[in-house]
Amino acid sequence: MKVSFAPFAIPAKGLVVIPVLAGGKFLAHGSKINKKTGQTLSRAMTAHDFKAKAGDTLRVVAPHGMRVQAIVLVGLGEEKDISEKTLHKAGGAAAAALSGKLDDVALIAEGVKGMEVAQVASALAFGMMLRSYRFEKYFTKKDNKKPPLKALKILGAPPAAKNVWAEYHHLAEGVFLARDLVTEPPNHLYPANYAEQIEALAALGLKVQVLNEHDIQDLGMGALMGVAQGSAQPPRVVTLLWQGLKHTGEISHALVGKGVTFDTGGISLKPGQGMWDMKYDMAGSAAVVGAMRALAANKVSVNVVGAVGLVENMPSGHAMRPGDVVKTMSGQTVEVLNTDAEGRLVLADVLWYVQEKFKPACMIDLATLTGAMVVALGNEHAGLFTNNDELAQHLSAAGMATEEKVWRFPLHEAYDKLLESECADMKNISTDGGAGSITAAQFLQRFIKKGVHWAHLDIAGMAWARKARATTPMGASGYGVQLLYRYVCDRKA
Ligand code: BES
Ligand code: MN
Ligand code: ZN
Repeated sequence: MKVSFAPFAIPAKGLVVIPVLAGGKFLAHGSKINKKTGQTLSRAMTAHDFKAKAGDTLRVVAPHGMRVQAIVLVGLGEEKDISEKTLHKAGGAAAAALSGKLDDVALIAEGVKGMEVAQVASALAFGMMLRSYRFEKYFTKKDNKKPPLKALKILGAPPAAKNVWAEYHHLAEGVFLARDLVTEPPNHLYPANYAEQIEALAALGLKVQVLNEHDIQDLGMGALMGVAQGSAQPPRVVTLLWQGLKHTGEISHALVGKGVTFDTGGISLKPGQGMWDMKYDMAGSAAVVGAMRALAANKVSVNVVGAVGLVENMPSGHAMRPGDVVKTMSGQTVEVLNTDAEGRLVLADVLWYVQEKFKPACMIDLATLTGAMVVALGNEHAGLFTNNDELAQHLSAAGMATEEKVWRFPLHEAYDKLLESECADMKNISTDGGAGSITAAQFLQRFIKKGVHWAHLDIAGMAWARKARATTPMGASGYGVQLLYRYVCDRKA
């Protein structure tokens, strides 16, 4: 979405979005437009009993006294409750309320108490952009009923608004990249070409390194290789290094993502019904890639490394069997009792590799790891598992601020015990039943070195939106990009 800025003028055509405070109170520019319509807008609000609560919208078609197609009034709620988050949601709602031709859309910029005009307008535009995401690559007919919003004019913001918008725009591009990757069909996105797409991000100043199947084998990543061996598609491990600090090479954070480009379950095959969902089993990796893109594009002053393990989990004559024992890069052996518990095998080796190579003080991994997470938390929170209380607080705060919410679950040695194996250092699933998301996290924790702060986010319920939300159309949500970006920015020196 291209955003342009112009001084305030009463729009003469197209579609216009006007922010309004609770109770239908117009701000500076809105009241001028209302006057121009001979108070039609006020009367429409009364007639519809429109209260302008945060995220409420009212569409007024062809208002009196103006040549515009329609005006969308969007509620900001009570002035004291306005925050970046409420503005994102309001912007999303406004975008959803637009209809007809979207080739001339204006957003009226207004200031509110405690927030500059530039900030309010950019936050609204951000929400509008996120809600207007479309993935149309594979349609051959262009009779689109929900056209994308390609351009937006912001009327009445000062020139400095461009800079505020630029940061938002880069963040939204990170979210869009994640959504694109997640939405791509699994025959079109597989480890090798996924790695190539990530390599292209080097243009932003990221140092990208791609390990191929031989490198992975040589490093001793037997668990990741075990998952990959059933597929005709060779695996990749990709790292993206962003060095935003010039005075130190130390890497404060590593962001690690599960990138299973398709999860059939392997020999422990999944049922056919719903198996198509498993194209999004790489959403953790997409969030990492999207967040790294945003951090680099905005030149955030931190040293962060992203790392993704890209594999396809397939059944075949070469595939791992239930009962196989594999050796991880850490040296620990794993008895693979269920080949569908593959994400933890991939992450075990990538987490270890990242610690050996980059020595981060803190690691955060994201993975669509367990169906049990969806049972526990549905589609509202990601599960958070961490060995550090402060990290829990920081991630929770970033989740609250961005509406990419997290909820903490326990780790405990009693759960760890459930992974003891008869035949190797551990098994990859608990056979006792229950606590499936926790035992998965316990498995990962066996690959975290002493002293390293670590958090695991199980995003199984968050990666794909089955219905539209405020800032997400139905489909890939891009969950995690905003959360990680916000978390990292709040940690910077
Ligand atoms: N990718 C799945 C988890 C998943 C399920 C993500 C539904 C999103 C939606 C993961 O690889 C998996 O298959 N997990 C198993 C683990 C089990 C075998 C211990 C599961 O949850 O059933
Ligand atoms: Mn699986
Ligand atoms: Zn999986």
